Amino acid sequence: MKAEEGGIYRSRLRRPMEAEAASYLSSLTEDVEIFEEDVRGTEAHVVMLCEQGIIGRGDAGKILQALESLRKEWREGKIRLDPERFEDVHELVEAYIIAQTSVEVGGKTHTGRSRNDQVALDIRLRLRRRLLELWEAVLRLAERLVERAGEEENTLLLLYTHTQQAQVSLLSHLLLAYADHLLRDLERLEACYRRVNRCPLGASAIAGSTLPLNRLRTAELLGFEGLVENSADAVSGRDFLLEAAASCSILMVHLSRMAEDLVLWSSSEFGYVELPDELASPSSVMPQKKNPCLLELGRAKAGRVLGLLSALLSLLKGVPTGYSRDLQEAKPPLWETLNQTISTVRIFEKIFEGLKFNRERMAEAALQSYAPAVDLAEALVKHAGLPLRQAHRLVGETVRLALERRVSLREAYSLLEEASMKLLGFKPAFPRRLYERYTDPRRLPAERLTQGSPNPREVKRMLRERRETLKRWRLKLRKLLRNLERAEAMLGREVSKLSKGKA
Ligand code: ARG
Repeated sequence: MKAEEGGIYRSRLRRPMEAEAASYLSSLTEDVEIFEEDVRGTEAHVVMLCEQGIIGRGDAGKILQALESLRKEWREGKIRLDPERFEDVHELVEAYIIAQTSVEVGGKTHTGRSRNDQVALDIRLRLRRRLLELWEAVLRLAERLVERAGEEENTLLLLYTHTQQAQVSLLSHLLLAYADHLLRDLERLEACYRRVNRCPLGASAIAGSTLPLNRLRTAELLGFEGLVENSADAVSGRDFLLEAAASCSILMVHLSRMAEDLVLWSSSEFGYVELPDELASPSSVMPQKKNPCLLELGRAKAGRVLGLLSALLSLLKGVPTGYSRDLQEAKPPLWETLNQTISTVRIFEKIFEGLKFNRERMAEAALQSYAPAVDLAEALVKHAGLPLRQAHRLVGETVRLALERRVSLREAYSLLEEASMKLLGFKPAFPRRLYERYTDPRRLPAERLTQGSPNPREVKRMLRERRETLKRWRLKLRKLLRNLERAEAMLGREVSKLSKGKA
């Protein structure tokens, strides 16, 4: 049989595609991301076709050998990607097999398959890997945060609302809050992974095949947890990648907000933190500078990742059920999202590894602050029986007087009495001893009674529990990686049985 002019698919069309249009259409250059996945997916498909008796062992063996040599040439950089020649990696792979064997043999490769289920498969295979890489990176960052929290159990830190001094707390407590954000990101990644890790192959173009394909077997050979069962769902559905991009966006928002804290706190005005020199940037003109450029870039890349999510959502909302070529455009933003997110998480891990905390500055700021005012008001509720609203007024008045007379809150006992006489007409039943206790920032964390507060006992408990939680996440990750390795080995065995059997 004579080969079709302009590619293996163009049987109905009289002429090859116009060159510029062919380049415009082709996804070949961006398909480098899924090249290996396409080869592996094809191996699994061919093994299954052979096991089902749809193609003979001899043919299967030859196709598998061709795939092996393609993989080798690809890894050696010998495969040229010419978008004028091939629409995509799928055409390249099939054309290669046919060229290596013959159309009589290689022409059987695509039996019972469509590029629609094939590309959905490739994306899932690739995304699965990338999600596990992201998982590893996030886990490391969370581990690092918990480790650093453990070193700062007693470091006083003011917490801010509206970027104004709010309450006295501990640095360990804040680092644990960051870690908790990330633990939820891991939950999102896991849920997303479970939905990604399902096999669409065997859906054909949209409505299944008349051939006796064994879908569960291909799924097994590729290490999937099951099928995307409905064939129309399997080729149409891209919510799995939206979910991945959305999870990345949320994660990047978390990192961006941490970056905001650290950029602010590394200013001379705060001086709470200092980046290690190897993670800071100089200025071309101002010799004194130590700029937090990595943090700023992390913040900016969060914007980029959110934009990519938005591109994906806009792209998908207009695609009717089934495959349309629009879907081709969903891949580059997805890969870009994962690249940016993974590298940002890794950089943040390095930052938290090397970040210096200036404990003295943090304590000094807490000691000078009027932030114990909340605790003082609550103490008046607890010990002097005042309604919260009255206590709030009283302490507010005390703070105002103290600011006017330039005294610290700790020195303002007499001002509380003065305020009380003025507002309530009597002195509160609140001895100086209690006043000192509730205005000393160093004693305040221990006064907090609520679960999840920076009470040092609570911090210790949370540290212990988060360490345990992180261990469980490590085990889960290890298990998923092992599942993938096992499937890879199984497919490898089947492939070598067939390709060595008959050559
Ligand atoms: N290159 C295409 C993509 O990336 C593969 C699927 C093409 N399917 C089709 N029916 N034209 O989405």
